[in-house]
Formats: sequence, structure tokens, C-alpha cells
Amino acid sequence: MALLRKINQVLLFLLIVTICGILYKKSHRGSVPKSDADEDSEVPEDMEDEIPVVICAAAGRMGATMAAINSIYSNTDANIVFYVVGLRNTLSRIRKWIEHSKLREINFKIVEFNPTVLEGKIRPDSSRPDLLQPLNFVRFYLPLLIHQHEKVIYLDDDVIVQGDIQELYDTTLALGHAAAFSGDCDLPAAQDVSRLVGLQNTYMGYLDYRKKAIKDLGISPSTCSFNPGVMVANMTEWRQQHITKQLEKWMLRNVRENLYSSSLGGGVATSPMLIVFHGRHSTINPLWHIRHLGWSPDARYAEHFLQEAKLLHWDGQHKPWHFRTVHADLWESWFVPDPAGIFKLRHSR
Ligand SMILES: *[C@@H]1O[C@H](CO)[C@@H](O)[C@H](O)[C@H]1NC(C)=O
Repeated sequence: MALLRKINQVLLFLLIVTICGILYKKSHRGSVPKSDADEDSEVPEDMEDEIPVVICAAAGRMGATMAAINSIYSNTDANIVFYVVGLRNTLSRIRKWIEHSKLREINFKIVEFNPTVLEGKIRPDSSRPDLLQPLNFVRFYLPLLIHQHEKVIYLDDDVIVQGDIQELYDTTLALGHAAAFSGDCDLPAAQDVSRLVGLQNTYMGYLDYRKKAIKDLGISPSTCSFNPGVMVANMTEWRQQHITKQLEKWMLRNVRENLYSSSLGGGVATSPMLIVFHGRHSTINPLWHIRHLGWSPDARYAEHFLQEAKLLHWDGQHKPWHFRTVHADLWESWFVPDPAGIFKLRHSR
């Protein structure tokens, strides 16, 4: 009898230890330092007021992501939840960078993107292999990654936000529009920059108009393009219109028929979006997407103009963490050093 009681006590002890273990794990999962929200509790009251910002963190350019997050968080009082998307083997590094730096305050979720969904959908022959990185296509799959929000902001990693992100979030989407972008012809003129950009302002810069499938779309080649590096999207509309399916259809067609323009400065993710969203997207205030800062080492805007800009985008090959470009200081002031010491500014003095 005594033995039995002893065994019972041991079992009870083990049970308590197990429960404590589970509870501990739960409170350390999901990473919501700002409030102590429990993932499994009811949807919190202020969920509606949360602004979800989706941004990717690719292995070689995580420093870009962290600078962007830092700039967004520092310039708003809004309640932001960052969805930081990475491939499986980088997730722990993302977490470490956030939790062991000044970013530990932010509200974030780390989301894994499984690149197998892209199999057979990407032509391997781009002149810029960096644009073929799986994470470039995350924006096609937003409703698969984000479930709790209807309206979502997606940002490329090579941006810096200088305005209050609430303003961008308040962009109105017209009824029936699944997304809003900033048009490539709405950009305030900056001579140096527009000279560099040239044809990359129109559909002709992204689609091969010699191909029948493209001609058959009936879209004029001189139609102004838009840049999908900054997007405000409505997940309900996105699902209803099967946007992801439509984008995948054009990816597959491109694999078979090579439909994109060969000049493609803007990236292989842009072309299918130009087709699918043609004539049915809302617009973002151009000051919320000042771009082309990475088109050349000396792509130059007037300083006072850049100060008024709400969002700066270093699209192009001359990234401010690699090159000492004209306006790199505007990026560098948001840099968050890598606690693991892996990511380094190449041009650091
Ligand atoms: C999103 O789209 C749905 C369906 O059209 C609509 O009812 C809803 O009001 C839209 N939400 C926003 C924030 O625009």
C-alpha cells in the first residue's frame, strides 16, 4: 500500500511538471512582447485596430528587413503587428535578431513560407537571379499566410518608412478592388531618376508584346505600370477573386511561353501582377512610394523632396547596405546591428 501511494505521488509530481512545461512553452511561443496576449485566447478587443504589416526576411538581406521594421515602428503610435516571413532555415535567426536588439519591443509573428508552392512556376533564366528568390513571391500568397486580418500592408524589405504607417493603412480601396499600388507615372519628376528609369514606367518594360498571349490581353503597351513593392490589400476580395490562382496561371504560362520582357529591371514578380490587377486596383499616394533609389549609385532626388517622402524604396541593384549610394545615409540611420554579427554593412568605414 505504501509503495502504491509513493508511485501515485511520483505520478502526480510528473503530471504537474508536464503541465508547467506546456504552460511555459505556450507563453513563450508566438512572441507578443508588447501586450501579454495569449495566442489561444479569444480575439482581443483591439484586434480591429491592429495594423498588420507583412515583410520578408531573406537570409542574405535580413539587415534590410530590420531597418525597415525599425523605421516603421519608430514613426508611429499605431498598434502594429509585423508578420516577418522567412524560409524554414532562417526563422531562428530572425527571432534572435529581433529579441536581442532594440526591436525586442515590437509586436511580431514569424511566418514560414514553404517554397514548394512555387515548383514549376518560375523560369530559371532571369538576368537577375536575386529576383527569383522564393520570398519575392510571398506577396502572391498573402491570404495563405495571414488569417486574422482583412486589410493588410505588404512591404518590400528594401524600404524605409518616414511617415506614420497609419496613413498608408488608411488608403481607401474601391469596392471590388483587392489591392492598391502606387502608379509608375504618378512619381513626381526627378530628372536624374526618370532618365535612368526610361521605359520601365510602362507595361512594355515588363511584358513581351511580341507574344500573342500578351497582345491578346488588349492592354496598351504604353499603359503606366505600378510597383508592387508597396501594397495595401483586402484579403476578402483577394480570396473572392481568386487572385492567387490567377497569378499562378500567369506564372505557369510564362514558364511555357516566356512572356516577360527581357529588360525586366523591376522583377519577375511584377509582370503577373501587372496583368492580373490591370484596371482593377486602387492607388496609393505617390509620397508613400518614392522609388528607384537603387537604380544607380548616383540616382539622386532633391534632399527637401526626400525629407517630405513618406516611404523610400531602394529598388534596383544598388542597395544601400552594399553601396555607398547618394542617399544611403537615409537608410543607414535605421540600421539595427546584427546581434549574431553575420550581417555587415559592406561599405562601412
Ligand atoms: C474588403 O472587401 C469586402 C468584400 O468586397 C468588403 O465587404 C470590405 O468592406 C472590404 N474591406 C475593406 C477594409 O476595404
